[in-house]
Amino acid sequence: MTRKLFVTTALPYANAAFHIGHMMEYIQADIWVRFQRMQDDGAGAREVHFVCADDTHGTPIMIAAEKEGITPQEFVAKIAAGRQQYLDGFHIAFDNWYSTDSPENVELSQGIYRKLRDAGLIVTKTVDRFFDPVKGMFLADRNIKGECPKCGAKDQYGDNCEVCGAAYQPTELVNPFSVFTGSTPILKPSEQYFFALSDPRCFAFLKDWLNTPGRLQSEMVNKVSEWLGEAGEKLADWDISRDAPYFGIPIPDAPGKFFYVWLDAPVGYLASLKNYCSKKGIDFDALLNDPDTEQVHFIGKDIVSFHLLFWPAMLHFAGHPIINKLKVNVHGHLTVNNEKMSKSRGTGISPLRYLDLKMNPEWLRYYIAFKLNAKVEDLDFNGEDFVARVNSDLIGKYVNIASRCAGFIAKKFDGKLASELSPAARAWIAKALTRDGAERQAGIAALFEAREFGKALREIMEVADITNQYVDENKPWILAKDADKSAELHEVCTTALILFRQLTIMLAPVLPQVAAKVAEFLGDTRLSWRDTQGAAVYDIMLGRTIGAYTHLMTRVDAKMVEDLFDKPAAPAPALAAAPDVAAPAPEAPPAADIEALAPEIKIDDFTKIDLRIARIVQCEHVAGSDKLLRLTLDVGEGRLRNVFSGIKSAYTPEQLVGKLTVLVANLAPRKMKFGVSEGMVLCASSADEAANPGLYVLEPWPGAQPGMRIR
Ligand code: 2FM
Ligand code: ZN
Repeated sequence: MTRKLFVTTALPYANAAFHIGHMMEYIQADIWVRFQRMQDDGAGAREVHFVCADDTHGTPIMIAAEKEGITPQEFVAKIAAGRQQYLDGFHIAFDNWYSTDSPENVELSQGIYRKLRDAGLIVTKTVDRFFDPVKGMFLADRNIKGECPKCGAKDQYGDNCEVCGAAYQPTELVNPFSVFTGSTPILKPSEQYFFALSDPRCFAFLKDWLNTPGRLQSEMVNKVSEWLGEAGEKLADWDISRDAPYFGIPIPDAPGKFFYVWLDAPVGYLASLKNYCSKKGIDFDALLNDPDTEQVHFIGKDIVSFHLLFWPAMLHFAGHPIINKLKVNVHGHLTVNNEKMSKSRGTGISPLRYLDLKMNPEWLRYYIAFKLNAKVEDLDFNGEDFVARVNSDLIGKYVNIASRCAGFIAKKFDGKLASELSPAARAWIAKALTRDGAERQAGIAALFEAREFGKALREIMEVADITNQYVDENKPWILAKDADKSAELHEVCTTALILFRQLTIMLAPVLPQVAAKVAEFLGDTRLSWRDTQGAAVYDIMLGRTIGAYTHLMTRVDAKMVEDLFDKPAAPAPALAAAPDVAAPAPEAPPAADIEALAPEIKIDDFTKIDLRIARIVQCEHVAGSDKLLRLTLDVGEGRLRNVFSGIKSAYTPEQLVGKLTVLVANLAPRKMKFGVSEGMVLCASSADEAANPGLYVLEPWPGAQPGMRIR
């Protein structure tokens, strides 16, 4: 039977660009998906649908959009427009990228809600909520600040204290205030809608679901069991409603009420699948209701409760049979040198910087895969280890095989591999591809299937070690010097390349680009796992004429890894001192007719202006303005800025997107007719605009990174 897989990663909030943690999760899922796509269960290749979407709803995005003077939809569209460069950059091949702010999601979320209501699992309760009387809106926990009720620390959020770590209710804060208006919030009763998780049916279902063998990692079974309690006594009803104004999906038959973002976010998995099905002409309902369709989520350990309590219960009681085949794979977080990443400590890694430095994305894919297992463990990135691992395994072991042997096939045998191999050569191949008397490929496939990528790669590297041992013992470079040894040379290089192809097939889920290059060079564009078995190992290769070997991958330069990390803010350099020995003064150029210099300032005057390197993430025309372009800038702050710039006469948006420039970053935000501008992009221009109307946006030399200060 052909397996049908519906695979997702967590839907990222559409309020910021991707960070390296997103890349880790996507790479993990992408490797698993690529592995699945290479399988053939006899009846045909596996059917894999790999989708994701932006998680768009909720208060933070609504407020961020308001600040920029744009609609939440426009805000989300800006963020979404920046996604593809990361996905392409790291070879992450989703079949579909969609949005939770979509008609499909409205229909599916409301449909699920109606089914839950019909099942008697929606209850209403009136609760007191904090309300900002000036802004006229109910406040989310993070929209309220005050003094920690436990330690008295000032300026703490309504849900937990960042100083002492205490968790509490917003109503417990001392001297609370609204982060929007500074006003003292008042308690206002509001009718809320709850999903009745405390209903005994939920406990009965969840207990059974989570204990189904093979469904969840054992750590997760233990954790969720704790949350359930012995008899479900720990399960509390879940508030799924929020009051207007709220950027979200309206609750049916409940005017002014919207679904809490976490209700419709996982439904977004289905919405993205549905959207993808309609593009591809696939019957969505049939796929979803097929009892054999497996749904597989990759998520981080911080969002487990939503995926292991609420989401399965929602799916089950809304009558979706896919719940019986739902698997949730939970991973840990990415750390750097065993600590949480921190910009100020200089341990932050930006995915775009990685790509800007022209670091090979497959180095990172390999390193991440090598460190991953099926447990909920954090994954540590260590620069030295990264350099050593990639250079040793990928360059020293894998690529080395082809670079040592392929040239001889081209030079001495017109690119043709030997047509037959001696029993000795076949014995080496068998030795490399066998473990404990069985073909290794099955064991390696089982490790990929179980997401034990590190173990799979270790075993693949054992194959590379044996292959290198074979090459070392047979020394093709010596054989090549002796015309009488031509047949031997032919066999040795053919044998090594047969094993190289095997390595490539098994590494293809991790190194898709290198594998594609090798496929072209060997003329085996199929790259199917089927060819790691039995006679298929030889079939395509013996007697084949192969193409010219092209360089596959360079070594990692340790200097690149140094440059990868955010630099902690460096002190301003002193002004250049006069050189001890005066160099001969170059001849002065003739004076041009330039604008008079502004009055002299002191260095202190200059340092008041905070100039930063900014990346133009997006750029668009502003409806109704013939001068302005709207720029979305990344200044390395973990958020994006909106800046209007009067450069429309000089540039098209396409010319600017992706470029670095210079921003006055501490200019007070300015409210304009089209929205708020948060800074100013620098341009050169002539004082005599009529004579020289040119406008020239500044661009730093290569190597500058968003967020760097200009001194
Ligand atoms: O934690 C997060 O980033 C959420 N946006 C994940 C949502 S996953 C799914 F439920 F949509
Ligand atoms: Zn505290």
